[in-house]
Amino acid sequence: MALFAGNQLPVLVIVFVAVTILGSSLLKKYFRSTTNLFEFFGNTRTTGQGFAKWIPVAFQRSVAQPYPNWDLYATKPIPYRPFRYGPYYITMGIRKMQWDEWIELDNLYPKYHARKLERIAERGSKLSCTAPEAYDGACELLEELCAYLPERYPSLFQSTAVGIDNRYTGESFNILKRPLVEDPMQMAARMIQDDVAMMFEKADGEYHLLAASVMLPGAWRLKDKFGMSLSEIHISGDVPGYKAKLEKSMTKFFQRIQPQSPFLRNNYFFQVGDDLAWNRSLGLENFDEIDGYNGGGVKTVKPHWGTASGGEAIEHHYFRTERQSLRRLPRTGAIVFTFRTYLHPVTQIAQEPGVPGRLASAVRSWGADVAKYKGRANYEDALLKYLDEKHKEQVEQGIINEDNIKEKETYPY
Ligand code: HEM
Repeated sequence: MALFAGNQLPVLVIVFVAVTILGSSLLKKYFRSTTNLFEFFGNTRTTGQGFAKWIPVAFQRSVAQPYPNWDLYATKPIPYRPFRYGPYYITMGIRKMQWDEWIELDNLYPKYHARKLERIAERGSKLSCTAPEAYDGACELLEELCAYLPERYPSLFQSTAVGIDNRYTGESFNILKRPLVEDPMQMAARMIQDDVAMMFEKADGEYHLLAASVMLPGAWRLKDKFGMSLSEIHISGDVPGYKAKLEKSMTKFFQRIQPQSPFLRNNYFFQVGDDLAWNRSLGLENFDEIDGYNGGGVKTVKPHWGTASGGEAIEHHYFRTERQSLRRLPRTGAIVFTFRTYLHPVTQIAQEPGVPGRLASAVRSWGADVAKYKGRANYEDALLKYLDEKHKEQVEQGIINEDNIKEKETYPY
């Protein structure tokens, strides 16, 4: 045939080989990573009125294994130490998560739970909120927690016909009753140690904060961020490098995250005082609700890390780190962001081998914008002096030497 005549044959062979290689690698990718054709092409959304419409996917996470030997009184918090020797780079800093790692509970559960109950009694409606269009997503989160917690922590949670029971607190959660007896995000927060926020995609492709329970945030308030897009949340907080280094990748990341691929990230700060809920050197959390306070010119800016006051002794400084998880729920497409706080006296973690030297290097390596954001000027003299002394002691005692100085540096520990 004319088609195979002359010098067209080699061209056809090349095209055939190229199509075969491309086709097989796409098929391999599909079968390895997804359960659904929509996911494969990333075309899970169509635009509805005001909100993006998610096409539910059939994904089901693997069953969580019971946490080995988990005990409400004996299992210690995981010691996250997410700082490295300098130089410091601004990045998203995310890593993949295994399903068993989604929610971490430990022997501080009673303390966190009690603090949350106090917060609910004091100012509950300001700390948890669910927009009407986010209600279904929040209910899916509750379904997921009620499935996961008894799998992972069977000695604490028991499945029931309508939800779960907490064997320690005696709380019984009915997640099927409509309307629910309380805000669904507040309900979620009473189950776990984390705070939790949910992001929903609007028709413009931006993700917005439309459901959350933010009880132990340290330095920000839900009422200042509720309804905002991911960019507005971070820009209004002057997060360093956001426009230049984070915004584009975070926007893409949120649009692409799939139900089968959850992620983790950690951060850290220094605060004064041991209150999980609020860093007291920022001033009062509710300064704008007190008559005469604002008008008196005492404090008119929204509190954030950079507005903290300084000058406190090292014994009052606490290392505060959050372990954050991100996942997309398969039915509603909502993105769940959990953030669990770990709080330790600086004087306690500085006893750990290698920590004072590594932490001092990390704090010194922040650029001016990061230092301003984290309020370094308020505590650097006391903190660095103390960490340098502790590092020197560890070197003199032979705990740290040229050979092992970086061996413990396996992020995020
Ligand atoms: C890939 C996901 C995300 C990344 C990479 C990211 C990144 C950051 C960074 C770098 C900061 C500065 C402090 C720190 O180091 O943590 C920050 C602060 C913050 N982020 Fe995110 N973030 C993410 C998701 C979210 C989500 C889903 C929320 C929704 C509530 C959120 C809310 C905040 C808030 C409230 C602050 C404090 C802002 C302030 O100081 O006013 N972030 N984020």
